[in-house]
Amino acid sequence: MEDRQFDEGTTLDRFLIETMRQYPGATGTFVNLIQSIALAGKMISARVNRAGLAGLLGETGEVNIQGEFVQKLDRYANETFMRSLEHRGHTCMVVSEEEAEPMKVGGKWHSGRYVVTVDPLDGSSNIDVNATIGTIFGVFRRKSEEGTPAETRDVLRPGSELLGAGYLIYGSGTMLVVAAEFGVHGFTLDPSVGEFFLSHPNIRMPSPGRIYSINDVYWDDFGQGVRDFLTAVREPKRKMSSRYIGSLVADFHRNMLKGGVFLYPATGKSPEGKLRLMYEAFPLAFIAEMAGGGATDGKRRILDIVPESLHDRVPLVIGSKDLVDEATALMKND
Ligand code: AHG
Ligand code: MN
Ligand code: MN
Repeated sequence: MEDRQFDEGTTLDRFLIETMRQYPGATGTFVNLIQSIALAGKMISARVNRAGLAGLLGETGEVNIQGEFVQKLDRYANETFMRSLEHRGHTCMVVSEEEAEPMKVGGKWHSGRYVVTVDPLDGSSNIDVNATIGTIFGVFRRKSEEGTPAETRDVLRPGSELLGAGYLIYGSGTMLVVAAEFGVHGFTLDPSVGEFFLSHPNIRMPSPGRIYSINDVYWDDFGQGVRDFLTAVREPKRKMSSRYIGSLVADFHRNMLKGGVFLYPATGKSPEGKLRLMYEAFPLAFIAEMAGGGATDGKRRILDIVPESLHDRVPLVIGSKDLVDEATALMKND
């Protein structure tokens, strides 16, 4: 992409349209898709901000495909995302954390070009305490022909085939971060005008990183390599900091801006870890690599993994290149 300057008042729409013009042959369908995602993000953000007043905290009483209790906001975010992807004809299929099967989108679902994977609400355990939560998404271009029904091969494929990915965070401000061939760019929602404005152009992940993020309650159950890495980064002379929110997307975002590594490794009890490959690890790994960082499961590059099923879990080490490389080197025999 030609290196161009976007000034302070650049909206998401202007950024997308001007960027698209630099790709001969672009039809605007990807732009449409990101606009639909941004709309869903604004709606979810508005609901998150009022959740404590609108009776939207707590559980629905249902259990999802992961065996986890569904929160009211999980359900709202999932439905909002689906509704906003349904109508514009850009999407043929959605794989969601909250749906056991892939959702075929809309009446004309088979005509859409893109497959979207989504964790509609990441960090559910933080909902009730007003801590940062978010939405994570990935976009594949379908392999099967447009105009025919979407197939399994359109979704069960390595993350290296992603066309784009991104996330929203609902924190002290609402942000949308989008990554594609054009790089990684962050937009902040101005709630008074209801628009996302470019606030973080060309994000690069600082390296060396100075933060490590892990839930170390599983220490005794981690492999020796993970423990060796933690011992190494805790050396006082390294002057590292430990930060852990418990929302993957918020921990990742902080580490991407400040430089650091997030780990959710395998444990003896959960050899596949906790996080999900298709809609948590893949999109964030794509963004990390685009921003100059890395992502592995301790042995393999995340984006090289081929999912066996929609809701596969995977151990995750993600963030600044130096720290991911250091952890991965120590974890290779775990
Ligand atoms: P989700 O809310 O989509 O189910 O994801 C929760 C995940 C992730 O956001 C976070 O990093 C991790 O769970 C936290 O797990 P621990 O409570 O075990 O630390
Ligand atoms: Mn999640
Ligand atoms: Mn979720």
